[in-house]
Amino acid sequence: MNDIRAATEQDLDAALAVERAAFGGEAEAELVRNLLADPSAEPLLSLLAWDGNEPVGHILFTAAKLGNATATILAPLAVIPGRQKQGIGGKLIRQGLNMLAEQGVDLVFVLGHIEYYPRHGFEPAGRLGFHAPYPIPEKVADAWMVQALRDGVIGHVTGTVHCAKAMDKKEYWVE
Ligand SMILES: CC(C)(COP(=O)(O)OP(=O)(O)OC[C@H]1O[C@@H](n2cnc3c(N)ncnc32)[C@H](O)[C@@H]1OP(=O)(O)O)[C@@H](O)C(=O)NCCC(=O)NCCS
Repeated sequence: MNDIRAATEQDLDAALAVERAAFGGEAEAELVRNLLADPSAEPLLSLLAWDGNEPVGHILFTAAKLGNATATILAPLAVIPGRQKQGIGGKLIRQGLNMLAEQGVDLVFVLGHIEYYPRHGFEPAGRLGFHAPYPIPEKVADAWMVQALRDGVIGHVTGTVHCAKAMDKKEYWVE
């Protein structure tokens, strides 16, 4: 049974440990640390999945700018290796999307696995007129995805999505 809760400042080490374990390196942990300290990433939503006292999953959504829409970017999502394929990633996505919808967020973007995110309501964003902060190569263009949390947004807003400063580096926009 996993418990999903908003991460507090005291949970920073737990979130970073999950990122390191899931990705097997420091890059995503560093990105998370930088985003959590970045005023341009606000408002953000950081959720941790716990199994008792053990942090097993983490998801981060950070503010993005796109015309007058309220937009956010999902990155990164991490589940520790021993607990993958148990539905924890999906639960983190669903709970995050519910909370963002309640907060009035219009659009959620993600650059990620094209077999994974469509299971949770995402669809390719480029063909809907949404451009990533950095161009995504044609052959993986569909990895740039979007989900509307409110009707009537898609089709009315298009353009380039501007991410938080800490994420505004070309190296983060390679799938
Ligand atoms: C990707 C990740 C977050 C998924 O979390 P999870 O808790 O294992 O996911 P869920 O249990 O909700 O879903 C599991 C399903 O997604 C599939 N899946 C997991 N990673 C996938 C990937 N990279 N591409 C396609 N499908 C994937 C699994 O095969 C499984 O499918 P099944 O239900 O048919 O067996 C987790 O595997 C992880 O942390 N991986 C390493 C870090 C990473 O790549 N993060 C994603 C960044 S976009």
